Amino acid sequence: MTEDIAATLRPISEPRILDGVYSDDQHRRLVDVVRRNGPWKLILAQHFKSPEEVVATVSGGMPEGVELSFDMFLTPNFRGYFAQNGTCLYPEIEDAFYNSAFLEQARSYWNARYARPEMMLFNIQGPSGSTDPAHLDATTFRGVTMKNTPIWLMNTMTKSGLFKHWLHRKAQVITWFYPGRIGGGFTYWPEGPHAQPKRLAAPMWNRGVVVQNEMMYHRGEANGPVDMRTPAGLAFQSLLGADPDAPDGWRITTDGAVIQKIPPAETRFLVHWSAEIYMDMAELKVVMDSTDDLTHERVFDMFVKDLRTRGITFPVPSDPFTDTAFIRLLNKTYDVGAPRFYPAEAPGPRQAAA
Ligand SMILES: [Fe+2]
Repeated sequence: MTEDIAATLRPISEPRILDGVYSDDQHRRLVDVVRRNGPWKLILAQHFKSPEEVVATVSGGMPEGVELSFDMFLTPNFRGYFAQNGTCLYPEIEDAFYNSAFLEQARSYWNARYARPEMMLFNIQGPSGSTDPAHLDATTFRGVTMKNTPIWLMNTMTKSGLFKHWLHRKAQVITWFYPGRIGGGFTYWPEGPHAQPKRLAAPMWNRGVVVQNEMMYHRGEANGPVDMRTPAGLAFQSLLGADPDAPDGWRITTDGAVIQKIPPAETRFLVHWSAEIYMDMAELKVVMDSTDDLTHERVFDMFVKDLRTRGITFPVPSDPFTDTAFIRLLNKTYDVGAPRFYPAEAPGPRQAAA
């Protein structure tokens, strides 16, 4: 069963590699927004309420009996948004978000008629480990989106293969500014998580990919000097912001105390731009007019029916959004496992720990 699912987890097209993605002036303004509007929270702290939710989003379940805790996933990766729900949050970078060159890339990647910018975020970090074996980006469906649904549920819907009819088509342009020479590349599995991966190696400065990352397993690799990857004092509430003492430097604080300073040479800055895609006017109308939307009730009904069809017995949860036993059951049932192969230069977290 998971073989079938693994084989369907492929992007619509082979990822395209781009160089010189942003102008120097755009890059300067993007960084300036990050420096002036921080500090920024950990990625984990922004998206998840429990470790079970994290596990449902990454691939590969936890062994039975292992007690989950946030510490297992605590790496110093921070995030903020430049644009959300089609709206640019900072006028000084509007040209980067409402970006005709990116829209043309997105349309041609899908061979589609229309594209609409949806979201733009950045990840920023200094040296960091990677506990992520590989993941899918937030999938959304007609009626089931970031506005009303947690990421773990949408990604479990993707892995199940039950909801393809309602999947929102998307394309991303993901760009890195990372001058470091220790790790920090991008591994991706365009033929599915059971096939051989491909890799973009660091240093990567203004280099990007056009992808469909919610249907393609991928991971950011561990980066930077190993002894700097887990700063002492890192906690769920840690923040990253501009270092006032260094014009291009950054710092991590926990409860107001500086726990690490990050020099520019070790800063890994990623900009993620995403667009919704509509193949033609008919699809555009179905989406915009909400004539064929899913509801949460229908989603859980379809899961419950599918689990029963598989002969699995379980108590029907009263609140499936927060019922950790039910989340674990979905995760286990639709798990395709961690990718089978990793590049020799960038082993997966379990190989690296072995
Ligand atoms: Fe991702």
